[in-house]
Amino acid sequence: TSPAIKPPLTIRLCGPRGFCAGVDRAIQIVVLALKAYGAPVYVRHEIVHNRYVVEGLEAKGAVFVEELDEIPAEHRAQPVVFSAHGVPKSVPEDAVARNLFYLDATCPLVSKVHKQAMRHQRLGRHVILIGHAGHPEVIGTMGQLPEGSVSLVETVEDASIWEPPVDPAHLGYVTQTTLSVDDTAGVIARLQERFPALTAPAADSICYATTNRQEAVKQAAPGCDLFITVGAPNSSNSKRLVEVALKAGATHSILVQRASELNWDEIETLGPIRTLGLSAGASAPEVIVDEIISAFKERFEATVDLAITAEENEHFLVNRELRGLDLTVA
Ligand code: F3S
Repeated sequence: TSPAIKPPLTIRLCGPRGFCAGVDRAIQIVVLALKAYGAPVYVRHEIVHNRYVVEGLEAKGAVFVEELDEIPAEHRAQPVVFSAHGVPKSVPEDAVARNLFYLDATCPLVSKVHKQAMRHQRLGRHVILIGHAGHPEVIGTMGQLPEGSVSLVETVEDASIWEPPVDPAHLGYVTQTTLSVDDTAGVIARLQERFPALTAPAADSICYATTNRQEAVKQAAPGCDLFITVGAPNSSNSKRLVEVALKAGATHSILVQRASELNWDEIETLGPIRTLGLSAGASAPEVIVDEIISAFKERFEATVDLAITAEENEHFLVNRELRGLDLTVA
């Protein structure tokens, strides 16, 4: 049988995409800890929200737990790493109480938000945290402050009905690092309308990586028949990219973890795909982007167009204990 003629396809590949400096650092911390201390290295929560990354580290000897009490007594001398999303203050305190040696892989930009929140509180302000309930970063940021001194606001609707438990002259806000830039601006505007004295953090809480990935998607999405974001369903920044693509004009927008997840029957029902947008969340490795491109190249005569909107040069140093270790040595 002669091979079927493949339909033409343009893939608009967004840049920046994929790993941010905080994710890169968190993965390095686990890899270096394994080299320095040997397996097992415990990791509290998925180090970053990506199964491929987690399974890769598990294969090297990392053991993922949700809480510190899951670490067996005989392994107490082994390090435990806290994930990039940050942890409430009670977690390192608990680690010390249990005599555990911990390495904190909290992204420095999440730690910055912790400091912004603590500063508001120190200056006598009740803190409004704009973010998504239940996300580990939100749990971590709320857990920097005494109970009752921080309120979570998720949406413009929440912002319209939220009642301050203190004098509204003393309010400050911070946000989760991985929110939609545009949606968050709406929530802040609503809060400022209601509480004109509301104090902003010293610098934006939404991080450079979130901002840049959303901007690239915004530029690339108009005119795309389908937009694919590589990322996990529990990855906040990846889910935001799916929404941004749709809002910016992609006809369809989906989140995909691996190429094997692509449902070709369903994609066919979307109508002819001539232009595909492609990006990846901050915790999604580039190999999966390559995998998706290859899967489309099998079915389409595909050309890849780079849609680059920014250059990123951020790099975060690993914990002092791990510096100087060589990642490349087996
Ligand atoms: Fe940090 Fe932003 Fe990445 S907060 S972990 S640089 S998405």
